[in-house]
Amino acid sequence: MAILLPGGAGYIGSHTAVELLNAGKEIVIVDNFSNSKPEVLDKIKQITGKDFKFYELDYLNGQALEKVFEENQIEAVINFAGFKAVGESVKKPIEYYTNNIAGALTVLDIMRRYNCKKFIFSSSATVYGEPERIPLTEECKTGGTTNPYGTTKLFIEQILKDIYQSDNEWDICILRYFNPVGSHESGLIGEEPQGIPNNLMPYIVRVANGQLKELSVFGNDYDTPDGTGVRDYIHVVDLAKGHLKALEKIDKEGTGLYIYNLGTGTGYSVLDMVKAFEKATGKNVPYKIVERRAGDIATCYAETKKAKEELGWTAEKTLEDMCRDSWNYITK
Ligand code: WQD
Repeated sequence: MAILLPGGAGYIGSHTAVELLNAGKEIVIVDNFSNSKPEVLDKIKQITGKDFKFYELDYLNGQALEKVFEENQIEAVINFAGFKAVGESVKKPIEYYTNNIAGALTVLDIMRRYNCKKFIFSSSATVYGEPERIPLTEECKTGGTTNPYGTTKLFIEQILKDIYQSDNEWDICILRYFNPVGSHESGLIGEEPQGIPNNLMPYIVRVANGQLKELSVFGNDYDTPDGTGVRDYIHVVDLAKGHLKALEKIDKEGTGLYIYNLGTGTGYSVLDMVKAFEKATGKNVPYKIVERRAGDIATCYAETKKAKEELGWTAEKTLEDMCRDSWNYITK
């Protein structure tokens, strides 16, 4: 019996594939390399010493995806596939809604037809919109997302709730990621944003290695300790391990719908991140303060109690680990 990973060659997917293989799980990866590279597959094998099946396909192609279910005993699906650049989603809403929502529906429909009802969804803290309270608990209101990317996550969460409502045999876990950063300690896999990075850490890394001139800090007039935005940065390996715990949870429970924040519970500002990166790597990160970025919120970090109590999972890696591993990947 195998775990299917749509988008498993991507940043979060590849790190989760490593943890699943290391835990002795059989996996099947499907990916169309729209936001990942084929060489990641060999890197996963190199890190784990394990093999796995791979199909190059677009998960919107139901016929091709059905073939995977015909040829493999799929016991559960962890869906990583989806476009995820906030700024790009504002420019390309049709592509984002089509790919992320129709793609998820294609997977879920085929799962139903093959009586495979264990589904873990890669969601995001962005579904909370403007936070009702900080730290954010899973019971906080969702909605008010400020971009199509975040809205696709919100809509898919609603679709999953409706599916569970229609058939309680489903076994669903929604994981709300906070801000994933870092790379596997081997430096073999990591984050490869296409073009100029939208996210903070990949941008800092490229300033530190001279690819980009300086970091633009999007506003220092927020109601935060140093005026810059505060986020809950979580090491991608901790995040990956959270998926293994989620799989154990749905295996144990048999049916249900569960929602968990995957964060560290600690918020760091943009300037905290710059200082931590410079300290961890000895590199200089020149920056300038510019105006706020549209759609940004001041502060966002997780209440992590529920994942600790119900999944037996907490993030273990430090901010120094996140900075060092991010730098290690780009300089490998
Ligand atoms: C973090 C902080 C910026 C870049 C989004 C999505 C989330 C997840 C991660 C996909 C903010 C500041 C950033 C820069 C800056 N999505 N910043 N200069 O917006 O918290 O979350 O990406 O994986 O779902 O919502 O992440 O890294 O873009 O920004 O000052 O060049 O860094 O203002 O305060 P964000 P981010």
